[in-house]
Amino acid sequence: MTELLEETEAGIARAAELLRAGALVAFATETVYGLGADATNAQAVSAIFEAKGRPRFNPLICHYADMEAAFAHGEADDRAIRLARAFWPGPLTLVLKRRPGCPVALLASAGLDTLALRVPAHETALALLRLVARPVAAPSANRSGLVSPTTAGHVMAGLAGRIAAILVGAPCAVGIESTVLDLTGPTAILLRPGGVTVEAIEAEIGPVIRKPPLAETLEGFRSPGMMASHYAPSLTVRLDARTVSTDEGLLAFGPPLMGAGATFTLSETGDLGQAASRLFEGLRWLDTEGQRLGLARIAAMPIPDHGLGMAINDRLRRSAAPRDGDTPKS
Ligand code: TXA
Ligand code: MG
Repeated sequence: MTELLEETEAGIARAAELLRAGALVAFATETVYGLGADATNAQAVSAIFEAKGRPRFNPLICHYADMEAAFAHGEADDRAIRLARAFWPGPLTLVLKRRPGCPVALLASAGLDTLALRVPAHETALALLRLVARPVAAPSANRSGLVSPTTAGHVMAGLAGRIAAILVGAPCAVGIESTVLDLTGPTAILLRPGGVTVEAIEAEIGPVIRKPPLAETLEGFRSPGMMASHYAPSLTVRLDARTVSTDEGLLAFGPPLMGAGATFTLSETGDLGQAASRLFEGLRWLDTEGQRLGLARIAAMPIPDHGLGMAINDRLRRSAAPRDGDTPKS
């Protein structure tokens, strides 16, 4: 049985108690729901991989209540401090060198000598993290390779019975995962575009290397969550749709194309923030509706590749990527 906990003092206290005891608790953040475990407890971390069906070489993000707590575990240089001041709490994950003596279980970072750290901008999540008073490892709270959850209902659909509880929270306002930035070398590397735009990051620390979105080999090692097929609905996804047919479900951006079998509009006005916050909901809705109506696939209209559009396009490309059985997923 998975407990549904409310955003009350009692609900948050129960969630913290479960986490401290080594149980898995999903909780809302401003990006997506995370599947949390005490990051210092290797067995609890292991249970995350188990519940998600996630490959063990794909490292997890550790969540902290504030910058001081985060930088006690990861070595922050001037760039990290600058970015943390500008964007934390918020949808930015920094990959830093692990400090000696850092108590985070090695499994959480898949054995790497680096650590991915983030302070979420979500009141309930922060209250929970303060109570737990330990880093909380949390990937998105979905079965590996499938669409990320932005409501408690999405989490239930994938993980009910496999986790101890869900702390139901205010809606995931950003709706797309955090930006992952590698600061372990002299030049910052964007490992995953996300809720903080690369333009905003560059305004703080200068040029950032952008990795090709589907780079497989080296990238696969640096950030295995960047593997091709991911965020995959059951129906296949066709990108860059400029026309649509009656046997397709349309993911629209701007005024929708006419003639689709079903339509979900990310943003009628072409607002990238609104589109990001509705992306996973849209993919899920079209998938369900498309299967009900017997549609052949999902067709996604083009989205400009700047600002949050970069993160949206990254997720769309991966939802459309080939799904061969041996492609590792997160
Ligand atoms: O918004 C988010 O980031 C959400 C919420 C719950 O915080 N979490 C999330 O976690 O998206 P997950 O596990 O789905 O994605 C974590 C990403 C993966 O691409 C992983 O490979 C990368 O971060 N990552 C984690 N630790 C890393 C490390 N030490 N070095 C490089 N990449 C790392
Ligand atoms: Mg994920």
